[in-house]
Amino acid sequence: MVAGAVVALVARSSRQLAETLVEIEAEKGAAAAFVRDLADVKAAASVLQNVERELGPVDILINNAATVAPLGPTQSVEPAEIEHSLRLNLISPVVLGTSAIPGMRQRGWGRIVNVSSGVVASPSGMIGANTYTFSKAALESHTVNLAAELEGSGVTANIYRPGRVDTSMQEWIRGQVPRLVGGGLVERFRSFHESGALITPRASARSLVVRLTSNETGRVWDVADELTKSPSS
Ligand SMILES: NC(=O)c1ccc[n+]([C@@H]2O[C@H](COP(=O)([O-])OP(=O)(O)OC[C@H]3O[C@@H](n4cnc5c(N)ncnc54)[C@H](OP(=O)(O)O)[C@@H]3O)[C@@H](O)[C@H]2O)c1
Repeated sequence: MVAGAVVALVARSSRQLAETLVEIEAEKGAAAAFVRDLADVKAAASVLQNVERELGPVDILINNAATVAPLGPTQSVEPAEIEHSLRLNLISPVVLGTSAIPGMRQRGWGRIVNVSSGVVASPSGMIGANTYTFSKAALESHTVNLAAELEGSGVTANIYRPGRVDTSMQEWIRGQVPRLVGGGLVERFRSFHESGALITPRASARSLVVRLTSNETGRVWDVADELTKSPSS
Protein backbone atom coordinates (compact mmCIF):
# COMPACT_ATOMS: atom_id res chain seq x y z
CA MET A 1 0.00 0.00 0.00
CA VAL A 2 1.09 3.56 -0.63
CA ALA A 3 0.77 4.44 3.03
CA GLY A 4 -1.19 7.57 3.85
CA ALA A 5 -2.37 8.25 0.30
CA VAL A 6 -5.65 10.12 0.00
CA VAL A 7 -7.65 8.58 -2.83
CA ALA A 8 -9.70 10.55 -5.37
CA LEU A 9 -12.24 8.29 -7.07
CA VAL A 10 -13.73 9.32 -10.42
CA ALA A 11 -16.68 7.61 -12.12
CA ARG A 12 -20.20 8.32 -13.36
CA SER A 13 -22.18 6.35 -10.79
CA SER A 14 -22.54 8.11 -7.46
CA ARG A 15 -23.88 4.92 -5.84
CA GLN A 16 -20.81 2.84 -6.69
CA LEU A 17 -18.54 5.69 -5.67
CA ALA A 18 -20.33 5.94 -2.32
CA GLU A 19 -19.94 2.18 -1.76
CA THR A 20 -16.23 2.39 -2.55
CA LEU A 21 -15.79 5.32 -0.17
CA VAL A 22 -17.36 3.24 2.60
CA GLU A 23 -14.97 0.34 1.85
CA ILE A 24 -11.93 2.62 1.95
CA GLU A 25 -13.06 4.32 5.15
CA ALA A 26 -13.71 0.92 6.74
CA GLU A 27 -10.01 0.19 6.24
CA LYS A 28 -9.10 3.55 7.83
CA GLY A 29 -8.26 5.13 4.47
CA ALA A 30 -9.17 8.62 3.29
CA ALA A 31 -10.96 9.23 -0.01
CA ALA A 32 -13.26 11.59 -1.87
CA ALA A 33 -15.51 10.96 -4.85
CA PHE A 34 -15.90 13.00 -8.02
CA VAL A 35 -18.84 12.18 -10.29
CA ARG A 36 -17.67 12.78 -13.85
CA ASP A 37 -18.17 11.33 -17.32
CA LEU A 38 -14.61 10.87 -18.56
CA ALA A 39 -15.85 10.31 -22.11
CA ASP A 40 -16.35 14.07 -21.97
CA VAL A 41 -12.81 15.29 -22.59
CA LYS A 42 -13.56 18.71 -21.05
CA ALA A 43 -14.64 16.99 -17.83
CA ALA A 44 -11.41 14.98 -17.88
CA ALA A 45 -9.41 18.16 -18.43
CA SER A 46 -10.95 19.91 -15.41
CA VAL A 47 -11.32 17.08 -12.89
CA LEU A 48 -7.64 17.07 -11.96
CA GLN A 49 -7.85 20.74 -10.94
CA ASN A 50 -11.02 20.00 -8.95
CA VAL A 51 -9.24 17.15 -7.14
CA GLU A 52 -6.16 19.26 -6.41
CA ARG A 53 -8.28 22.11 -5.07
CA GLU A 54 -10.09 19.75 -2.70
CA LEU A 55 -7.41 17.25 -1.73
CA GLY A 56 -4.00 18.67 -2.66
CA PRO A 57 -1.46 17.66 -5.30
CA VAL A 58 -1.99 14.54 -7.36
CA ASP A 59 1.21 12.48 -7.10
CA ILE A 60 -0.17 9.21 -8.45
CA LEU A 61 -2.58 9.04 -11.38
CA ILE A 62 -4.16 5.73 -12.32
CA ASN A 63 -6.20 5.89 -15.52
CA ASN A 64 -8.48 2.90 -15.09
CA ALA A 65 -11.87 3.83 -16.61
CA ALA A 66 -12.57 2.29 -20.00
CA THR A 67 -15.25 0.72 -22.10
CA VAL A 68 -15.04 -2.52 -24.10
CA ALA A 69 -17.94 -1.33 -26.28
CA PRO A 70 -18.67 -1.37 -29.13
CA LEU A 71 -18.59 -5.12 -29.73
CA GLY A 72 -19.45 -6.88 -32.96
CA PRO A 73 -18.24 -7.15 -36.54
CA THR A 74 -16.05 -4.15 -37.27
CA GLN A 75 -18.01 -3.21 -40.40
CA SER A 76 -21.15 -2.79 -38.27
CA VAL A 77 -19.60 -0.34 -35.82
CA GLU A 78 -20.70 3.29 -36.13
CA PRO A 79 -18.02 6.02 -36.25
CA ALA A 80 -19.73 7.71 -33.27
CA GLU A 81 -19.21 4.54 -31.20
CA ILE A 82 -15.53 4.48 -32.13
CA GLU A 83 -15.23 8.13 -31.20
CA HIS A 84 -16.88 7.56 -27.82
CA SER A 85 -14.53 4.67 -27.04
CA LEU A 86 -11.46 6.65 -28.02
CA ARG A 87 -12.50 9.63 -25.94
CA LEU A 88 -12.81 7.46 -22.83
CA ASN A 89 -10.08 4.86 -23.44
CA LEU A 90 -7.43 7.08 -24.99
CA ILE A 91 -7.95 10.85 -25.08
CA SER A 92 -9.07 11.30 -21.47
CA PRO A 93 -6.17 9.28 -20.03
CA VAL A 94 -3.78 11.34 -22.17
CA VAL A 95 -5.40 14.60 -21.03
CA LEU A 96 -5.41 13.56 -17.37
CA GLY A 97 -1.73 12.63 -17.63
CA THR A 98 -0.72 15.86 -19.32
CA SER A 99 -2.71 17.86 -16.75
CA ALA A 100 -0.88 16.12 -13.91
CA ILE A 101 2.64 16.33 -15.36
CA PRO A 102 3.50 20.01 -14.69
CA GLY A 103 2.85 19.67 -10.94
CA MET A 104 4.57 16.28 -10.75
CA ARG A 105 7.62 17.65 -12.57
CA GLN A 106 7.77 20.64 -10.24
CA ARG A 107 7.68 18.35 -7.20
CA GLY A 108 10.21 15.98 -8.84
CA TRP A 109 8.04 12.92 -8.25
CA GLY A 110 5.00 11.45 -9.90
CA ARG A 111 3.49 8.18 -11.06
CA ILE A 112 1.25 7.80 -14.10
CA VAL A 113 -0.25 4.38 -14.72
CA ASN A 114 -2.41 3.65 -17.73
CA VAL A 115 -4.50 0.53 -17.34
CA SER A 116 -4.39 -1.50 -20.54
CA SER A 117 -5.17 -5.08 -21.44
CA GLY A 118 -3.42 -8.32 -22.36
CA VAL A 119 -5.23 -8.04 -25.69
CA VAL A 120 -2.44 -5.71 -26.87
CA ALA A 121 -0.03 -8.66 -26.71
CA SER A 122 -2.40 -10.85 -28.75
CA PRO A 123 -4.73 -8.61 -30.74
CA SER A 124 -6.55 -11.49 -32.42
CA GLY A 125 -7.62 -12.79 -29.01
CA MET A 126 -10.78 -10.65 -28.88
CA ILE A 127 -12.43 -10.91 -32.29
CA GLY A 128 -15.35 -8.46 -32.32
CA ALA A 129 -13.61 -5.97 -30.02
CA ASN A 130 -11.60 -4.14 -32.65
CA THR A 131 -12.06 -0.64 -31.22
CA TYR A 132 -11.15 -1.73 -27.68
CA THR A 133 -8.06 -3.51 -29.00
CA PHE A 134 -6.66 -0.56 -30.93
CA SER A 135 -7.62 1.95 -28.22
CA LYS A 136 -5.48 0.02 -25.72
CA ALA A 137 -2.63 -0.43 -28.22
CA ALA A 138 -2.57 3.33 -28.78
CA LEU A 139 -2.68 3.97 -25.03
CA GLU A 140 0.35 1.72 -24.54
CA SER A 141 2.25 3.43 -27.32
CA HIS A 142 1.44 6.83 -25.81
CA THR A 143 2.64 5.67 -22.37
CA VAL A 144 6.00 4.30 -23.50
CA ASN A 145 6.71 7.40 -25.57
CA LEU A 146 5.71 9.67 -22.68
CA ALA A 147 7.94 7.73 -20.28
CA ALA A 148 10.92 8.38 -22.55
CA GLU A 149 10.03 12.08 -22.68
CA LEU A 150 9.87 12.24 -18.87
CA GLU A 151 13.10 10.30 -18.28
CA GLY A 152 15.12 11.83 -15.42
CA SER A 153 12.28 14.05 -14.17
CA GLY A 154 11.21 11.80 -11.29
CA VAL A 155 7.88 11.28 -13.06
CA THR A 156 7.31 7.78 -14.40
CA ALA A 157 4.71 6.42 -16.81
CA ASN A 158 3.87 2.74 -16.96
CA ILE A 159 1.24 0.42 -18.37
CA TYR A 160 -0.71 -2.01 -16.22
CA ARG A 161 -2.35 -5.11 -17.67
CA PRO A 162 -4.69 -6.24 -14.88
CA GLY A 163 -5.43 -9.80 -16.00
CA ARG A 164 -8.88 -11.37 -16.32
CA VAL A 165 -10.71 -9.71 -13.47
CA ASP A 166 -14.17 -10.53 -12.15
CA THR A 167 -15.83 -7.16 -12.80
CA SER A 168 -18.94 -5.77 -14.43
CA MET A 169 -17.03 -5.49 -17.74
CA GLN A 170 -16.61 -9.27 -17.83
CA GLU A 171 -20.25 -9.74 -16.83
CA TRP A 172 -21.39 -7.38 -19.58
CA ILE A 173 -19.47 -9.29 -22.27
CA ARG A 174 -20.87 -12.64 -21.02
CA GLY A 175 -24.40 -11.18 -21.25
CA GLN A 176 -24.13 -10.15 -24.92
CA VAL A 177 -26.19 -11.90 -27.59
CA PRO A 178 -23.69 -14.21 -29.34
CA ARG A 179 -25.24 -13.90 -32.80
CA LEU A 180 -24.96 -10.09 -32.65
CA VAL A 181 -21.42 -9.67 -31.36
CA GLY A 182 -19.81 -12.96 -32.39
CA GLY A 183 -20.33 -16.28 -30.64
CA GLY A 184 -16.62 -16.93 -30.20
CA LEU A 185 -16.07 -13.86 -28.03
CA VAL A 186 -19.07 -14.44 -25.77
CA GLU A 187 -18.32 -18.16 -25.38
CA ARG A 188 -14.70 -17.41 -24.53
CA PHE A 189 -15.67 -14.96 -21.79
CA ARG A 190 -18.34 -17.33 -20.43
CA SER A 191 -15.73 -20.06 -20.23
CA PHE A 192 -13.34 -17.80 -18.23
CA HIS A 193 -16.11 -17.38 -15.69
CA GLU A 194 -17.20 -21.02 -15.60
CA SER A 195 -13.66 -22.37 -15.32
CA GLY A 196 -12.80 -20.07 -12.39
CA ALA A 197 -10.12 -18.27 -14.42
CA LEU A 198 -11.10 -14.81 -13.17
CA ILE A 199 -9.17 -13.11 -10.38
CA THR A 200 -10.65 -10.68 -7.86
CA PRO A 201 -10.37 -6.91 -8.35
CA ARG A 202 -8.59 -6.77 -4.99
CA ALA A 203 -5.88 -9.25 -6.10
CA SER A 204 -5.28 -7.33 -9.31
CA ALA A 205 -5.21 -3.95 -7.55
CA ARG A 206 -2.74 -5.26 -4.97
CA SER A 207 -0.40 -6.35 -7.74
CA LEU A 208 -0.40 -2.80 -9.08
CA VAL A 209 -0.14 -0.97 -5.76
CA VAL A 210 3.09 -2.74 -4.73
CA ARG A 211 4.79 -1.39 -7.86
CA LEU A 212 3.84 2.24 -7.40
CA THR A 213 6.89 3.19 -5.36
CA SER A 214 9.37 1.69 -7.85
CA ASN A 215 11.36 3.93 -10.18
CA GLU A 216 10.66 1.78 -13.24
CA THR A 217 9.31 3.66 -16.22
CA GLY A 218 8.09 2.85 -19.71
CA ARG A 219 7.29 -0.71 -18.65
CA VAL A 220 4.39 -3.04 -19.28
CA TRP A 221 3.47 -4.31 -15.83
CA ASP A 222 1.41 -7.48 -16.11
CA VAL A 223 -0.55 -8.80 -13.17
CA ALA A 224 0.79 -12.28 -13.94
CA ASP A 225 4.37 -11.24 -13.10
CA GLU A 226 3.45 -10.17 -9.58
CA LEU A 227 0.89 -12.94 -8.94
CA THR A 228 3.45 -15.64 -9.73
CA LYS A 229 5.84 -14.00 -7.23
CA SER A 230 3.32 -13.73 -4.39
CA PRO A 231 0.05 -15.57 -4.98
CA SER A 232 -2.87 -13.74 -3.37
CA SER A 233 -6.57 -14.27 -2.97
N1 LIG B 1 -12.02 -6.95 -16.21
C1 LIG B 1 -11.07 -7.48 -16.97
O1 LIG B 1 -10.97 -8.71 -17.13
C2 LIG B 1 -10.07 -6.57 -17.67
C3 LIG B 1 -9.10 -7.19 -18.48
C4 LIG B 1 -8.16 -6.38 -19.12
C5 LIG B 1 -8.18 -5.02 -18.92
N2 LIG B 1 -9.14 -4.45 -18.13
C6 LIG B 1 -9.08 -3.00 -17.96
O2 LIG B 1 -9.19 -2.69 -16.58
C7 LIG B 1 -9.84 -1.42 -16.41
C8 LIG B 1 -11.02 -1.59 -15.48
O3 LIG B 1 -11.91 -2.51 -16.09
P1 LIG B 1 -13.14 -3.17 -15.31
O4 LIG B 1 -13.20 -4.57 -15.73
O5 LIG B 1 -13.09 -2.82 -13.87
O6 LIG B 1 -14.32 -2.39 -16.04
P2 LIG B 1 -15.77 -2.07 -15.47
O7 LIG B 1 -16.22 -3.16 -14.59
O8 LIG B 1 -16.60 -1.75 -16.68
O9 LIG B 1 -15.53 -0.75 -14.61
C9 LIG B 1 -15.10 0.41 -15.27
C10 LIG B 1 -14.93 1.53 -14.29
O10 LIG B 1 -14.75 2.73 -15.06
C11 LIG B 1 -15.81 3.64 -14.77
N3 LIG B 1 -16.24 4.27 -16.00
C12 LIG B 1 -16.73 3.67 -17.11
N4 LIG B 1 -17.07 4.59 -18.01
C13 LIG B 1 -16.80 5.79 -17.46
C14 LIG B 1 -16.96 7.13 -17.91
N5 LIG B 1 -17.49 7.42 -19.10
N6 LIG B 1 -16.58 8.14 -17.08
C15 LIG B 1 -16.07 7.86 -15.85
N7 LIG B 1 -15.89 6.62 -15.38
C16 LIG B 1 -16.27 5.60 -16.18
C17 LIG B 1 -16.94 2.78 -14.20
O11 LIG B 1 -17.80 3.52 -13.35
P3 LIG B 1 -19.19 4.14 -13.89
O12 LIG B 1 -19.82 3.12 -14.77
O13 LIG B 1 -19.95 4.48 -12.67
O14 LIG B 1 -18.81 5.37 -14.65
C18 LIG B 1 -16.15 1.75 -13.41
O15 LIG B 1 -15.73 2.27 -12.18
C19 LIG B 1 -10.22 -0.97 -17.82
O16 LIG B 1 -9.25 -0.09 -18.29
C20 LIG B 1 -10.23 -2.27 -18.62
O17 LIG B 1 -10.01 -2.04 -19.98
C21 LIG B 1 -10.08 -5.19 -17.50
